[in-house]
Amino acid sequence: MPAIQKRGQWEIRLAAAMQQIADWLKTLGMSEYAQRFAENDIDMAVLSHLTDQHLKDLGVSLGHRLKILHAVAQLAGAAPAAPQPAPVTEPKSQDTAERRQVTVMFSDLVGSTALSARMDPEDLREVISAYQKCVAETVRRFGGFVAKYMGDGVLVYFGYPQAHEDDAERAVRAGLELIGAVSSIKSNAPLQTRVGIATGLVVVGDLIGSGSAQEQAVVGETPNLAARLQALAEPNTVVIAESTRKLLGNLFELEDLGTRNLKGIGGPVRAFAALRASSVESRFEAMHSAGLTALIGREEELELLRRRWARAKTGEGQVVLLSGEAGIGKSRLTAALLEAVAAEPHTRLRYFCSPQATDSALYPIIGQMERAAGFAHDDTSQQKLDKLDAVLAQTATAPQDAALFADMLSLTNDGRYPALALDPQQRRQRTLEALLAQTEALTRQSPVLMIFEDAHWADPTSLEVFGRAVGRIEMLRALLLVTFRPEFQPPWIGRPQVTALTLNRLAQRDIDAMIDRVVGNHAIHAGIRRHHRTYRRHSAVRRGDDEGGARGG
Ligand SMILES: Nc1ncnc2c1ncn2[C@@H]1O[C@H](COP(=O)(O)OP(=O)(O)O)[C@@H](O)[C@H]1O
Ligand SMILES: [Mg+2]
Repeated sequence: MPAIQKRGQWEIRLAAAMQQIADWLKTLGMSEYAQRFAENDIDMAVLSHLTDQHLKDLGVSLGHRLKILHAVAQLAGAAPAAPQPAPVTEPKSQDTAERRQVTVMFSDLVGSTALSARMDPEDLREVISAYQKCVAETVRRFGGFVAKYMGDGVLVYFGYPQAHEDDAERAVRAGLELIGAVSSIKSNAPLQTRVGIATGLVVVGDLIGSGSAQEQAVVGETPNLAARLQALAEPNTVVIAESTRKLLGNLFELEDLGTRNLKGIGGPVRAFAALRASSVESRFEAMHSAGLTALIGREEELELLRRRWARAKTGEGQVVLLSGEAGIGKSRLTAALLEAVAAEPHTRLRYFCSPQATDSALYPIIGQMERAAGFAHDDTSQQKLDKLDAVLAQTATAPQDAALFADMLSLTNDGRYPALALDPQQRRQRTLEALLAQTEALTRQSPVLMIFEDAHWADPTSLEVFGRAVGRIEMLRALLLVTFRPEFQPPWIGRPQVTALTLNRLAQRDIDAMIDRVVGNHAIHAGIRRHHRTYRRHSAVRRGDDEGGARGG
């Protein structure tokens, strides 16, 4: 574990100034940015100079940028004079400490006391060490950090030392995965685990020991809460705190466990069991379950998409490559297209890539087919095959192709399909062919709108499938819309049926409209708006470009 270095006096003062910003962000419910603000030396004194672009450069999402700008405007309204230098308060108790939002996971092996009564101490030690190894491997795959082994329990941080935008989600996925992994550890009796997860602001510092004995300790209620929730969990379940739940949108199916009083925790606590990842179609929709705000701007881009769709419907298939930075509005624009064509007869095929599945062959395609068939988590393999058959019957899919799809979905052929004697390479080729044939069959029934989201996370096999689709789409009644971040370079540019569309930042009047909508009746500090405008003019000149982004045919 990397030791936290001792800091000098000025650094302590700096830490205190950053503390203020962290506290302020906390009041906005946006503690996750505290670290990023600190890393970029943004303290209270420079707050009022922050522009939308600055926040964007820091990786703050559009919704959060609007909230922050709104709050800054209110601060400015309260103190309209020039920004005051931040009064430096005395650092809090741990003077080398750092504040972070961390999602803490505590996992424990069930029934270890009973095991110890039955087992030889040597064997028990082996079981516990296998358990700990399993936890460490699982959480590491999800970007978690093992902070401490405590007996047969393991304390894990998500969000420290390394923070991700989706730490809460990673923690819950890791917890769910862990249950399966632990139960498949080979031992005399099947092993079970319990997992507790909580999110909160914690103080991290070098508190205990020195050198290799040093532990990166997290101080605050959160680790204790995670441990208490763990104790409350049934064997092989994951229990999460309200604070974690708030960050998850609709991504997981939860069971409300009601309010509990937990030892050492001030006030009653609401707890939830995380049952499984939900089968929601889109991550974007899961995180906006309360409904979308109206689309602002993007008239030209939406118009272009509608024109491509109109052309595709006539049998001149089209591809649109929609690129733009994280948070710029790719998913929002996609949602607008779906809404615009909702009343027309068509088939929708939506494929979502995931940052956790970049190496998982055909992940977005498997997800699409599972949702289309309507698999439920407790369906038997038999029931799933029945549902798959029902979907495939609509396109009169050949039994050989159905066999390949069942295999792709990891369903065992119960004898209803022909057994295919293929080597892995042949099987792969035939599966890709079958997928294309399936899409083509759909386009003969009605126009098909295919949306392939976040292709920068796509696995290579899926990219091959979509590459082939691009090659064949000209003759089909289909529009393929691919969204991705600029770091991904799709190899399909330059063909007549392919249009590249880059989403740039919104025009100033649109940003004004958004600010007005968020700020409502509050008067916004004129300086901030002006500052925005000036900044944008400069950056537009620097880039040598203009608003809007439609390019290509
Ligand atoms: N033109 C827009 N009008 C209204 N809200 C928008 C617009 N563009 C983006 N948003 C909002 O900003 C946030 C980030 O946009 P999103 O579409 O998720 O970005 P991306 O998919 O490019 O990462 C979402 O909450 C979205 O609803
Ligand atoms: Mg998106």
